[in-house]
Amino acid sequence: MADKKATLNLPGEDAIELDVLSGTLGQEEIDVRSLGSKGYFTFDPGFTSTASCESKITYIDGDEGVLLHRGYPIDQLALHSNYLEVCYILLNGEAPTKEQFEEFSTIVTRHTMIHEQIHHLFRGFRRDSHPMAVMCGVTGALAAFYHDAMDVNIERHREIAAFRLLSKMPTVAAMCYKYSIGQPFVYPRNDLSYAGNFLNMMFSTPCEEYVVNPVLERAMDRILILHADHEQNASTSTVRTAGSSGANPFACIAAGIASLWGPAHGGANEACLRMLEEIKTVEHIPEFLRRAKDKNDSFRLMGFGHRVYKNYDPRATVMRETCHEVLKELGMKDDLLEVAMELEHIALNDPYFIERKLYPNVDFYSGLILKAMGIPSSMFTVIFAMARTVGWIAHWKEMHDDGIKIARPRQLYTGYDQRDFNSLTK
Ligand code: SDX
Repeated sequence: MADKKATLNLPGEDAIELDVLSGTLGQEEIDVRSLGSKGYFTFDPGFTSTASCESKITYIDGDEGVLLHRGYPIDQLALHSNYLEVCYILLNGEAPTKEQFEEFSTIVTRHTMIHEQIHHLFRGFRRDSHPMAVMCGVTGALAAFYHDAMDVNIERHREIAAFRLLSKMPTVAAMCYKYSIGQPFVYPRNDLSYAGNFLNMMFSTPCEEYVVNPVLERAMDRILILHADHEQNASTSTVRTAGSSGANPFACIAAGIASLWGPAHGGANEACLRMLEEIKTVEHIPEFLRRAKDKNDSFRLMGFGHRVYKNYDPRATVMRETCHEVLKELGMKDDLLEVAMELEHIALNDPYFIERKLYPNVDFYSGLILKAMGIPSSMFTVIFAMARTVGWIAHWKEMHDDGIKIARPRQLYTGYDQRDFNSLTK
């Protein structure tokens, strides 16, 4: 909605008026689309002050530490809903009725198997490949198996692809783990919940019955909820950009997985646990904090800071409570949790972090929970990708529903002016 105007005075030209847009919540935004026709671009590397699209899916207030999915606060969803219900909300915009939820969860449950030939695809990877490399490759390759519904211009095809991805990502994720440890793949089971089925595919073996621990099942479901979507983060923007060219949904999600893998983004949970293991004891914390503040040292406090949150990440709060629950349920004491708690306490009272509004983010505690569940750190981002698939799909679908326009940013060119080429062979 544009009910205000901004005036821009350009050098040597008449002032121009730009619409000021306001949404339901959040800051007002200057519509700069007409600047191109006036010979100007905006310059914003990293998009720190740029809105790339309009969306109704998720709202974040970084200053207040607010995260809403279709208007529902993340803490209420994490404590009172379940991942599949949150998936329905993200994809459809409203909470489902009992009947709608039954139908939705049945469709998801009954599409969890992947094409049997894909098992052979795994064999092409080294056993010691990073599971994210395997997940990225296999997800992109799904396009080779499900091309019967990949015309992105047909809404029914988009819906089928969405269900296939939501259903099959836990199967692919668990297969990445099983392949990495040389154990046989475990088929999905329709009698288990989404999180329970994933744990079963991860940990059961043909040799003995595996019983899903309800506390771990609930904790995994909560982790999936907390990672489901997060507005226009790097990987979601990657999915939107890939999708803007009309690329098929499997290719778009594979692009999102690739972007999420980076340690500044979804790879931070794995990097955070490695950092805590490197710190090892509370006594070593001051040295690591010194390094984190040293501009000449590339070390950063993994799991701390966020482009948007300049307050506590509301997901980190729920994650910390869940971490204590899981360790208590397992009767475990993790020295790294002590290190994490002390690191958090010291950092939150350190002027460097206070001035820069650096708080723990979603990745600070998730690794400790997953480690307590017996999941190796190399699988942490795989689980993040599995959980975020619904967010990527929701944004990909919203982009198509709104009418896609290929994403094609410009640049500030500072290279050579035109010059003649002198060939060596002339
Ligand atoms: C996720 O976007 C999303 O929504 C992502 C995500 C999602 O759900 O999709 O929330 C998931 O990716 C969470 C973030 C996980 N990443 C990490 O935990 C890695 C560590 N964090 C940093 O790399 C950093 O905080 C970022 C990348 C998360 C944000 O970086 P920005 O917004 O580009 O900020 P910046 O790098 O410009 O930092 C501002 C200042 C700098 O100091 P000055 O130059 O002003 O002196 O804060 C400093 C930075 O050096 N700083 C840190 C720090 N993070 C920022 N210093 C030490 N340790 C850190 N972790």
